[in-house]
Amino acid sequence: MNTALPATHFAISSRLPVPSRRSVVQWMAVAALGCAAVGSVCAAAATPIIIQFSHVVKPDTAKGKAALRFKQLAEARTGGRVRVEVYPDSQLYKDREELDALRLGAVQMLAPSLSKLAGLGGDDFLALDLPFLFKDRAAYRAVVDGPAGAALLKKLEPRGIKGLTFWDNGFKVFTANRPLQTVADFKGLRIRVQASKVLVAQMRALGSVAPVSPLIDVRADLQAGKLDGQENTPTNIQTQGLHEVQSHLTISNHGYLAYAVIVNQLFWEKLPADIRANLESAMRDATSYENSIAEADNLKALDRLTSGGQLITHTITPQEAAQWRTAMQPVYREARQWISPEMLAALPLPQGAPP
Ligand code: LMR
Repeated sequence: MNTALPATHFAISSRLPVPSRRSVVQWMAVAALGCAAVGSVCAAAATPIIIQFSHVVKPDTAKGKAALRFKQLAEARTGGRVRVEVYPDSQLYKDREELDALRLGAVQMLAPSLSKLAGLGGDDFLALDLPFLFKDRAAYRAVVDGPAGAALLKKLEPRGIKGLTFWDNGFKVFTANRPLQTVADFKGLRIRVQASKVLVAQMRALGSVAPVSPLIDVRADLQAGKLDGQENTPTNIQTQGLHEVQSHLTISNHGYLAYAVIVNQLFWEKLPADIRANLESAMRDATSYENSIAEADNLKALDRLTSGGQLITHTITPQEAAQWRTAMQPVYREARQWISPEMLAALPLPQGAPP
């Protein structure tokens, strides 16, 4: 069994936090025992295989809860041969750093938003960020559950990443310290977006500047006045406490936020086959759980944000939505240069989307 990793792996990972180094060393020790070839030796090893699962949201979100469900199922189904350490809320790494850490093998599992995956898997991931693309959750699921979703996950493999599955969050709304109702209301504002060329183009089309920043920094940047507003799902807004530093919320449902659960491919492929099968079954069940709670969690969070008088709420009318869509047409024109024809063909492009 070849357990060699590039020298850079160790050079770079030696600068990473202690838990990450420990995990790599443990994994190398298990791999050196030849677990894949001699299962009984592996079973006898006292040291469990550690999976460090890093994510950037609070434990009390659909993603946070499903990560813990995966931990519980994975540990039970492998009889303790695997231990899953879940690090929520950017405790280990912020958005961009965690992708680097996964590639280097310093963590083994992540669930980043699809918006952030273009840097690894290519621009087809950007397609899911197109504004007003999906009329409902089913329209989004039809894309990721079909051949286009499988093709997206495959695009991560040349970068040493294996995509396991998709987890939902939901539709995004805007918050700011002023009403955002018409396109003119966005002019000159600084609205935080995730690292996605499509989201930056979306805000530019509305007349705003779109600073890209890690989720963990958004609350402080809003409070300090470095940002005027942001877009996110109700659960993220509530659990990050963004409503405490913003006064207005606009129900626009203009875009969909969702995740892919991804692993370091070398780590995954070197797992003993029986362990990997148990982990796959744990992930299947954690995925059903995540996808069954995300929408309801967002509805509950939206209700809390809007009914408690914490935020002044606005809902865009169909006429205003039409105005937003017209203003955002350049985003579709620009995105056609980035997104492959195969991916575009799989999308429910709105009628009248520019060619
Ligand atoms: C964000 O950065 O706003 C989201 O991607 C966070 C998340 O993982 O839901």
